Amino acid sequence: MPSSTTVKKELPPLHQILIIGSGGRENALAWSLSKCPDVKEVWVAPGNAGTNQHHRCSSLEIGEENFEELLKACKEKKINLIIIGPEDPLAAGLSEKFRDQGLAVFGPSTEGAKLESSKAWAKTLMNEAGIPTAKHWTTNTKKEALEVLNGLQKALVVKADGLAGGKGVTVAESINATAEAIYDTFEGKYIPPSEQVVLEEKLEGPEVSVFALCDGKEMVILPTAQDHKRLKDGDKGPNTGGMGAYAPTPLITPEGLENIKKTILEPALNALKKKGIDYRGVIYAGLILTSSGPKVIEFNCRFGDPECQALMPLLGPELAKVLQACAHGCLELAPELSTKNICSACVVAVAPGYPKSPRTNEEIKIDLQTSDNLQIFHSGTKMDKQGSFFTAGGRVLSITAQAESFEEAFNLTYKGLLEINFEGINYRRDIGHQVRNS
Ligand code: AMP
Ligand code: GLY
Repeated sequence: MPSSTTVKKELPPLHQILIIGSGGRENALAWSLSKCPDVKEVWVAPGNAGTNQHHRCSSLEIGEENFEELLKACKEKKINLIIIGPEDPLAAGLSEKFRDQGLAVFGPSTEGAKLESSKAWAKTLMNEAGIPTAKHWTTNTKKEALEVLNGLQKALVVKADGLAGGKGVTVAESINATAEAIYDTFEGKYIPPSEQVVLEEKLEGPEVSVFALCDGKEMVILPTAQDHKRLKDGDKGPNTGGMGAYAPTPLITPEGLENIKKTILEPALNALKKKGIDYRGVIYAGLILTSSGPKVIEFNCRFGDPECQALMPLLGPELAKVLQACAHGCLELAPELSTKNICSACVVAVAPGYPKSPRTNEEIKIDLQTSDNLQIFHSGTKMDKQGSFFTAGGRVLSITAQAESFEEAFNLTYKGLLEINFEGINYRRDIGHQVRNS
């Protein structure tokens, strides 16, 4: 090539996006990406009743396990970018199936998804990379686990090794409760029996969520967020998928975030690379801010739900190109991701009986008008032939609002929730208590 010619590498056009998943996270992603320049259509498979409520977003009635139909849809719709939302299809290898067909996918392969799908594997990786995390013991039998407990003589956190839909972790309050959790996890009392069980030292401090968008080598860090995992006000009641979130959290300063990048996220990506894993997707670090610094309690291989709903309204219109660049392994070709310097609040409305046995099929009345700073993101919803909405899952929908202060943002959110009604609607009244005055 003549030396006078400059080779201008650039990302391919990005007009058609396919998101896989059916939750609030995917609904928020679709809403956000549909507003990015050049994006003409965002398809969500299977999506929910909220998908078509967003301009230029449409559901495709194809399940995430139906690869042949998904592939057919990708060809028909000339999809330029696939984003896989939940952990199950990632762990099951959906990314590599699409990549083998030459498609651009945002979401790690089965090997990369082990960050989330195997706690023991993730712990080994953290130790190898020197990433600060709770001290742990991987055990293969009940006997071995009980011996560890007897030796330590203190309450521990007991974790099933594999994916357990948020039900695999017990933070035990006593030695007896730890022993009980060891029995239950090995024997599969609440989830399928676990072959390996990770015991962990209990960490103290506030929990935060940090997200890195990775292209295999480099990363872009998103604003930080705080989730609220317990069902009831005052962080009481059983663990849930997440009852609400806010972003960014003032608990982490810009310097603190830089430190988390250097000591946790970059070492994780480098360790994956060293194992030959070309990690293109989200690294979600669940951290506890302990008195001796931030420590990892879990890595996930996807966006958090509902953190994603709180985060999306803060991200600039470059997001689609950034995710596309990650999928192509060349973040250097993406524009810089801008973020809005405002406060975002998200509260999730859940069905009665959630999380144990949510009652569904209740009609949902929505009298709320959305605006530039107020969004409705559907999770477990469906629509009947007449166009009425019905509940179809434990977490039903969330209201998200943005304002100059968290006080104002949460006021808007809670006012919005008064315009949403279904039989037995339940939501926490204290989401964002960390950043609100009242
Ligand atoms: P995980 O699925 O690993 O995030 O665990 C679920 C929840 O258990 C977390 O959100 C924490 O609230 C809690 N947890 C997990 N590991 C620890 C730990 N080592 N110390 C204290 N709490 C923990
Ligand atoms: N919000 C917690 C999670 O997505 O795992």
